[in-house]
Amino acid sequence: MPAAVLVGAQWGDEGKGKATDLLGGDVDYVVRYQGGNNAGHTVVIGDQKYALHLLPTGILSPDVVPVIGNGVVIDPGVLLSEIDGLAKRGISAERLLISSNAHLIMPHHKALDKVTERYLGKAKIGTTGRGIGPAYGDKIARMGVRVQDLLDPGILAKKIEVALTEKNQVLTKVYNRRGIDPAAVLEEYLAYAERLKPHIADTSLVLSKALDEGKFVLLEGGQGTLLDIDHGTYPFVTSSSPTSGGACAGAGIPPNRLTKIIGILKAYTTRVGSGPFPTELTDETGEWLRRTGGEYGVTTGRDRRCGWFDAVIARYATRINGITDYFLTKLDILSGLESIPVCVAYEVDGVRHDEIPMTQTDFHHAVPVYEELPGWKEDISNAKSFDDLPPNAQSYVRALEEMSGAPISAIGVGPGRDQTVVVRSLV
Ligand code: IMP
Repeated sequence: MPAAVLVGAQWGDEGKGKATDLLGGDVDYVVRYQGGNNAGHTVVIGDQKYALHLLPTGILSPDVVPVIGNGVVIDPGVLLSEIDGLAKRGISAERLLISSNAHLIMPHHKALDKVTERYLGKAKIGTTGRGIGPAYGDKIARMGVRVQDLLDPGILAKKIEVALTEKNQVLTKVYNRRGIDPAAVLEEYLAYAERLKPHIADTSLVLSKALDEGKFVLLEGGQGTLLDIDHGTYPFVTSSSPTSGGACAGAGIPPNRLTKIIGILKAYTTRVGSGPFPTELTDETGEWLRRTGGEYGVTTGRDRRCGWFDAVIARYATRINGITDYFLTKLDILSGLESIPVCVAYEVDGVRHDEIPMTQTDFHHAVPVYEELPGWKEDISNAKSFDDLPPNAQSYVRALEEMSGAPISAIGVGPGRDQTVVVRSLV
């Protein structure tokens, strides 16, 4: 039975929550495979709006088992407050499984994230300040604290001690900050352990058995392709692998189990934080897109940078991820425009590039080459089928499909659960 991956095709915030939710009825397990509470998914069900950061979207569907995979970095305090917040609204997290191999975000990771950004000054990444980069840094440096360490107070104490022996030197001597008390951290994390214990599992094994039994597993990425540590606009990226290759490593299931790779593509482009963004609009039109699209970060509340659709990026995402289907989101936001520019290539120092330039230097200088597509005036938010869309909206979708190199199988025409036009089944 299938395992499908949902991956952001741009710089994150493409509307993955809506796509996961759309598939919810067919899915048995929803797995977050990377990132942490830097992500933010908004799901609208009826008149209720849910903003999720760490919990997989599957938490909102009572028949789905939500899983936090080994590739995620977990801030346990944030996770518990998210669980408590949902409980207050009548949603139980009892089914949640957390990989014993996932890494924990510790207080020193958050402190270091903030202080290093400040030291970078103008060169800052614009991180979410949640400790993501330092937590992954420690994971790779083999000094991380894992979820399974919560089950052994002796080991937990030792690992905190070892980590803080070094990090307190850095905090106090390099950055002139106060050191962190290991005893206080131990007490705090032992309290988290009590509550998280029932959820800790060998999730790779659970998922493997589920697939053997013919269950449907959906792997849900945070962020997006261009924020990938290897394939994104480094160094202005997150510290994990949102691309489909990262899904296998971060969930503990092999590549040959994947049957569908669904890319989420916004009908225009946004990005949060620093870094190159060729189609960015810094004028009134950009402000209009931000306002109309509600482009403000779910996690940090920061204004998202907005711009036109970039087909070069979409093609890149298709290639890097092996996209089998696209879910095009927020098409309704573009209603009312006379014509819509779409970036089909870049020009760098007078040379045309049909692919993302090989070097960061060239990408920073990329000037979009636009093609104008005719717009539509009609309100499309009630469209139920592709034929309900005005001809120019249909042409826009078809043009994006052709330029992106993968079929657009679903189209978001509004924020609601039922405001999706399904062109062909995503499963
Ligand atoms: P970090 O993941 O907090 O280290 O931030 C690194 C970069 O990724 C920054 O530019 C963030 O704005 C960006 N980023 C992280 N998570 C998201 C997300 O969920 N959506 C959009 N951008 C994100």
